[in-house]
Amino acid sequence: MTRPIAPREVRIRRALEHLRNGSTDEFESISPFGPEEFTSPEIAATDRAIFARVPSIIAHSSELPEPNDFITHQMPRNKVIVARQADGGVKAFVNLCRHRGALLEERDRGRCRIFSCAYHRWSYNTDGTLRAITRDRTFGDIDRSAQGLVELPCEERHGFVWIVDEATAEIDVAAWLGPEMDEIMAGYHLGDLVCVRGEAFDEPVNWKIMQDAFLDGYHIQYAHPNTAGKIVHTNIMAMEDFGRHCRFVAPRKSIDRWLDEDPGDHSLAKHVIETHFLLPCHTLLRQPDHFQLLTFRPHPKEPGRSQMEMRLMVPRQRDSGMEMDTWTRLWDKNWQILLAVLHQEDFPLLRSSQSGMESANAGPMLLGRNEIANQIFHRELRKLVTDNQ
Ligand code: FES
Ligand SMILES: [Fe+2]
Repeated sequence: MTRPIAPREVRIRRALEHLRNGSTDEFESISPFGPEEFTSPEIAATDRAIFARVPSIIAHSSELPEPNDFITHQMPRNKVIVARQADGGVKAFVNLCRHRGALLEERDRGRCRIFSCAYHRWSYNTDGTLRAITRDRTFGDIDRSAQGLVELPCEERHGFVWIVDEATAEIDVAAWLGPEMDEIMAGYHLGDLVCVRGEAFDEPVNWKIMQDAFLDGYHIQYAHPNTAGKIVHTNIMAMEDFGRHCRFVAPRKSIDRWLDEDPGDHSLAKHVIETHFLLPCHTLLRQPDHFQLLTFRPHPKEPGRSQMEMRLMVPRQRDSGMEMDTWTRLWDKNWQILLAVLHQEDFPLLRSSQSGMESANAGPMLLGRNEIANQIFHRELRKLVTDNQ
């Protein structure tokens, strides 16, 4: 059943009401959890298995603008190459030579006509077909069509490239997003934006501890008193729960001028941040003038490690009405602020959280009713894990 999508201004007024009352949307119950969620090798394996069945985002489309552009990436289960095709589509492959298994492409990104293996120099076209076997007269006859790169399910939608991290799976991003989130993302025209900055961080922290921190509206004034805490209100969320993904509005402090005054028909859009949780591992933030995508991937082996990726998607310079150097300076500055908050505030806190969880007697812990986005994340993960068994 499709749930109605409330107009933005209605959702913002609900957040404003919460601010006036010192309330927030709440989850139905307090949820206990144990440290093994973040430390157990068995649970880590079950988490990785989720990525074999559901799509997650590997790039913004603008990271692969031209045919033969590629990126490589470590997913939870496979090392992956994504390549833009001659026809404008994208394909994803396991980054591994089908001769004797050397890593095929070592660079993070680039443009090339062929992938050429460093070991015995077999080569592959960017559509994954085997192009040449060196010294093929002595190698022996093989069915070349069977030795192309192993393809992974891949789809481009809403300006992102999505993959399922399992060769035998199928992909249907619209079905995965569901009618509400698919419509919401379509309305953002994210494909018209450009990914102006992107970076990956390997952290000694379980991916769920990381994801939890970036769905958390409860920590802002305490962990970020001089940065985000000055800009965004703490512990106020107006939530839309779509039963897999969700979206919530959090008021910025600039909304305070409307605390005692009725905003009437004024648009309050510039006074909020809208956060989207895209199961299994993304936080998509809609800021007044840009989007930010945060991705949290389980490490292929270790429960206590993960990779976070941060991407900044902004209007292209030619669409922005800004001079090139103003545009560049604006997003540079924005990016530097984001990096500083991550490295100086969030990461140290989360690293010590992970090492705390590894105490032999860490004991049971709690997610409160106010931690509603985290509650939805864990509720939906539990469903995915149960479905898998
Ligand atoms: S392993 Fe790649 S050519 Fe031999
Ligand atoms: Fe934070």
